[in-house]
Amino acid sequence: MKIFSNLLLLLLLFTAASTPGNLSPVPKPWPERFHALLYMNLTDAKLQLSDLWYDWPRGRNVNIFQKQLGVLLYDIEWDNGTSFYYTLGGKGQGGSCEVMEFEVGIPRPNFLDGAEYLGTEVADGFLCNVWQKVNFIWYYEDVETQLPVRWDFYDGISSHVMKFEANVALPDSITQAPPYCFGEVQLVKKMDVATTGVNGDNVIINPFGKIRRLIS
Ligand SMILES: *[C@@H]1O[C@H](CO)[C@@H](O)[C@H](O)[C@H]1NC(C)=O
Ligand SMILES: *[C@@H]1O[C@H](CO)[C@@H](O)[C@H](O)[C@H]1NC(C)=O
Repeated sequence: MKIFSNLLLLLLLFTAASTPGNLSPVPKPWPERFHALLYMNLTDAKLQLSDLWYDWPRGRNVNIFQKQLGVLLYDIEWDNGTSFYYTLGGKGQGGSCEVMEFEVGIPRPNFLDGAEYLGTEVADGFLCNVWQKVNFIWYYEDVETQLPVRWDFYDGISSHVMKFEANVALPDSITQAPPYCFGEVQLVKKMDVATTGVNGDNVIINPFGKIRRLIS
């Protein structure tokens, strides 16, 4: 892992030193608030839908996962590093909660700054500009509309954007974690940069196929 981090660092330094010409397209920054409906293919080829509600001004990134023929899982991520993962249903009726502490916040709207342009490619039937960042995320943006079409992570998780609405926000009431997230039995996991796997240049992924960023 350490070696991997060092390699990434070298890669970053190399990229920074090689001052590319300014002719390549750059990814459009994320709107400060948006809703996206994602179709996700996970590393074990299991599928899920995700309602992604990104809200930079509120410091909140929400994923509501519908696992195929499975549970509806809420994942409320705060910029202070805390994430609440829960299902509804109440104690003893299927409701569960896990709280995790990451040493990282939510991604900045411009988290793709500095990504390497790879050219165009047809993805999901759309002609896209493609970038990769730190061999970690591959990002496909529609050439015509500049909307994100798809992003893939190094570990094989791919997210396909089925719907993208800028400037909409999720009501706060929906993001309030249920009381059983705050009981004594909650499981708190510390996920730091080392256990999270890969980091560099403000991009980081946790094991659930999402992006967080380094807080510092
Ligand atoms: C999910 O990804 C795996 C591995 O890339 C692929 O074999 C499979 O066909 C994909 N499934 C769907 C429904 O896209
Ligand atoms: C982070 O913010 C959330 C929402 O306000 C809060 O519930 C949580 O306790 C905070 N975490 C820390 C470590 O302060």
